[in-house]
Amino acid sequence: MVGGVVLLILIGKSLVALGIVLLLGYPLSTALIVSASLAQIGEFSFILAGLGVSHGLLSKEGLNLVLAGALFSITLNQLTFAGADRLIAFVKTHPGLRRRLEERRSRRISQLEAELEAAREQAEQKASAHKTFTPEELLARFPLFAGLTPEQREVLILHFRPSASAPGERIIRAGDQADLIYFISSGEVEVHVGSRRIKLGPGDYFGEMAIISGQPRSADVTAIDYCQFATLSQRDFRQFLRRYPVIRNQIAALAAERGEMNRQFLEEEADGGRKVADSQASR
Ligand code: CMP
Repeated sequence: MVGGVVLLILIGKSLVALGIVLLLGYPLSTALIVSASLAQIGEFSFILAGLGVSHGLLSKEGLNLVLAGALFSITLNQLTFAGADRLIAFVKTHPGLRRRLEERRSRRISQLEAELEAAREQAEQKASAHKTFTPEELLARFPLFAGLTPEQREVLILHFRPSASAPGERIIRAGDQADLIYFISSGEVEVHVGSRRIKLGPGDYFGEMAIISGQPRSADVTAIDYCQFATLSQRDFRQFLRRYPVIRNQIAALAAERGEMNRQFLEEEADGGRKVADSQASR
């Protein structure tokens, strides 16, 4: 009787544990260690059995069987671990057996690998759809970014979004709120300041003034060619400026220069207008 109970604990309990751990998809070595660890009943069973007797649910004989089972299974525990070690070594030398026992796990792993591969492909497709420049192209076209490491350029490129305009298309309207800064990859645009037209081409950028000042757009900008741009959102551009103060100073200096140039243009135009009005009045 005691022998049956001990066998039930040692073999029955560990087989159930082995099956459950394998079904959950863990490796065979883990399943064997777990089942060896569970091939015993501990001191908690004494308490439970004692309670069972005091409530009249278990006979004295039952209590004795539990005690004997616990003592034997605890004593034999070292042996079960040694057995598990041997079994692990045996299975290692028999890959076919291991494959069969771990079939569920390897199926799950290949499924996860396939899902991971699909996700990676999707991310690459997304990135290449948004790709505007390689880090080398960015540097060749915009020397402004020469101070960045190749990795920093990679990160910046990830934030760029491509956009395009046809000739005659107004890209920025004076007075609007700022949303993007535009880096010209190809084509030309015209900035309208009063009656003046300032041409910008590949390697130039525009739309920075309103983002830096927080004021509305300072001028109209129109495509005079088929243009391609890499744009940065206001948020990403601000973050970029915060991260790279040297580049921020360069961009801010050009924005100030452009602002000053526009003030002079507009003043000259206003002066010219006044002179024409005065000469008309004196005639
Ligand atoms: P923003 O004011 O945001 O929108 C219009 C843009 O035109 C402005 O930023 C500058 O990028 C650009 N711009 C304005 N004035 C000049 C200028 N004098 N020379 C070149 N670009 C300009």
